[in-house]
Amino acid sequence: MASWYEERIFNAAMDVALSSARIAALRAEVLREARGEVVEVGLGTGLNLPHYPSAVRRVSAVAREVELDARALARAHERCIELVHVRGDAQALPLDDHSVDTLVCTFVLCSVEDLDAAAREFARVLRPDGALAVLEHVVSPRKLERFVQRTLTPPHRIWACGCRLDRDIAASLERAGFDRSTLPVARSNALPFPAAELLCSARARRRAAHFSASTSPA
Ligand SMILES: C[S@@+](CC[C@H](N)C(=O)[O-])C[C@H]1O[C@@H](n2cnc3c(N)ncnc32)[C@H](O)[C@@H]1O
Repeated sequence: MASWYEERIFNAAMDVALSSARIAALRAEVLREARGEVVEVGLGTGLNLPHYPSAVRRVSAVAREVELDARALARAHERCIELVHVRGDAQALPLDDHSVDTLVCTFVLCSVEDLDAAAREFARVLRPDGALAVLEHVVSPRKLERFVQRTLTPPHRIWACGCRLDRDIAASLERAGFDRSTLPVARSNALPFPAAELLCSARARRRAAHFSASTSPA
């Protein structure tokens, strides 16, 4: 369950911090192929909603909050998107196996307690031809920067609702069965260091072998 601080203070701060034009452009980029049954995990204040392709008319929002944020409801209304609140957690998605065409996750996995569990859930709920649209800040490949990220993470987590600056999110998704070649990480100018390294993908896909293994009879 999200805390009062997270719902009232942190989400309001993130609504400002994550709404720059550069981040908006990245949101549009990762959402450009969203289609079919669309599920967004960790909707927050709904900053992705203005960037869905116009063909997307319905988004199921997995969120831990009792009620969706009023800013998210207003943004959905503006775009005529039906927003369906599915109360739940990224680590145990209340969704059937292979039921989702597009799973959207932006700036969430840095703060999920068990990242590997969430990654496995993402792999479980996606259809074989489904895709993960993902935008996350991740660990730097540079040694010194990694050291700084690791040093800053403990104090940063206190005010930032558990956000870790030093997570290798692509590696976790790869362990869960996603194809590493669909998980590009690059330096961006959308966020400052220590959050400048971004995993940004419109179509992160599961490896074919992983799908056949997870659907074979025991
Ligand atoms: C920094 S905000 C990002 C909000 C939005 N996704 C965006 O891109 O602007 C992080 C969001 O992740 C959500 N979150 C954190 N841990 C979560 C979890 N385990 N399951 C579902 N949502 C989670 C928080 O409630 C919050 O809404």
